[in-house]
Amino acid sequence: MKYSGYAYIYTIGCQMNVYDSEKLGLILNSYGFERTDDVHKADIVVCNTCSIRHKAEEKAFSFLGRFAKIKKKKPGLIVVMAGCVAQQEGERAFVRLPYLDIVLGTQAFSRFGQHIDAIKSGQRRVVDTRDAPMIYEALPETACMDENKISRFVTIMQGCENFCTYCVVPYVRGRERSRTPEKIVQEIRLLAESGVKEVTLLGQNVNSYGQKEGEISFPELLFRVNDINGIQRIRFATSHPKDLSVDLMVAIRDLDKVCNHLHLPVQSGSNHILRKMNRGYTRETYLDRIFNLKKHCPDIALSTDIIVGFPSETREDFNDTLDLLREIEFDSLYAFAYSDRSSAPAARFPHQVDETEKRDRLNHLLEIQERYTEQKNTGLVGKTLDVLVEGTSEKKREGFDPVQEHMEQMTGRSESNKVVHFPSDQANIGDMIKIRIKNAYPHSLWGYPLELETK
Ligand code: SAH
Ligand code: SF4
Ligand code: F3S
Repeated sequence: MKYSGYAYIYTIGCQMNVYDSEKLGLILNSYGFERTDDVHKADIVVCNTCSIRHKAEEKAFSFLGRFAKIKKKKPGLIVVMAGCVAQQEGERAFVRLPYLDIVLGTQAFSRFGQHIDAIKSGQRRVVDTRDAPMIYEALPETACMDENKISRFVTIMQGCENFCTYCVVPYVRGRERSRTPEKIVQEIRLLAESGVKEVTLLGQNVNSYGQKEGEISFPELLFRVNDINGIQRIRFATSHPKDLSVDLMVAIRDLDKVCNHLHLPVQSGSNHILRKMNRGYTRETYLDRIFNLKKHCPDIALSTDIIVGFPSETREDFNDTLDLLREIEFDSLYAFAYSDRSSAPAARFPHQVDETEKRDRLNHLLEIQERYTEQKNTGLVGKTLDVLVEGTSEKKREGFDPVQEHMEQMTGRSESNKVVHFPSDQANIGDMIKIRIKNAYPHSLWGYPLELETK
């Protein structure tokens, strides 16, 4: 059916959810709903949720909690909980949010429209947490709605079968399934035609892309995406250390558009904890892979994810993690305090770490990493980096040369994913320009475009 009205979509969680929200937006458009940024104007509100940690889950409940009152004033408003919390909670979602209209699981996108029809024709509630054998494919001719974005995410696979003991993803995203290379390439071509310059290929474990389906391998997929005209940069996330192949290292080295950056979550530097996490590698194999990677790609930027305070993590285990950070010197990292997820086995492991202790370890680790991040950034002063321009940045840096006072301060990212600010009155969003780095800050770099410097 076709309706008219406004749709508001609120996204919590990972990059894959950002991608999914775009697809939900396309479905809503095809049902006649126009997107709005004003929640009060909305006739349908979708909260695309994440359940990776307790905090993310609570954010969803607190956002949707606001609609108890709003729905009383506007009874026709359709309130939808979508994504990972929806998949996890199913019917239980109504206990805290009795006025929800649709609970849309992670594999129910293709049926979203029919559920809206059901609610519009008087049905009280719909819960859909059924599995789907295939990843939802949006209509290709509408795949590039938001034309002013130069960087976009493209999901290449969903689900995960690694069953790390702390993680909900295998339970909320289901079994691993990959899209065909043809669909992926078709989508990226459309994005490129609409002006997109950078794509990030997404999967919970991109190294096992296509394996179950007998498709081409992930490095082979990178070769195909590298051939797409108009795309200038290719990123991908996430790689699992246990499956990092030499072919992938070679692809990163040889393909001009693939960024010289790898996000390789290690989670812990302690073998005892890695075993309990069921990560499938040891500290030594992780280090070995990094060593091999650096042989292929000497200047590669590295980032990682760490969990502190996993059940039974001792001070010694934690120190092993700090040691690993010292040994590798990552460019950046995401660190999280372990969060109990009732569907994941670790919730029932003995020796849970005290919350205050977790927070102390987290702060300590972040403090240490800050030094490395700053060191890495300082090491780039004087170097020239290719920066893909993303937009203007609001704040002018201290030391902004008066000659450039009249210029805009622009912002972009380097190949290694560092934020770079620079003055320019010529750069346009989507340009790739050379910036000579002058100053380094903990979370960004600042420099001049080469052409300005030679003036
Ligand atoms: N598939 C990716 C990551 C998915 S989730 C991978 O395997 O690396 C992103 C990050 O969230 C994880 O790398 C992990 O560091 C963190 N995470 C997952 N479950 C968590 C939990 N229960 N508590 C705290 N952090 C968690
Ligand atoms: Fe979760 Fe592990 Fe799968 Fe990553 S690999 S999504 S951490 S189960
Ligand atoms: Fe969160 Fe689901 Fe992504 S749990 S991290 S939104 S896959």
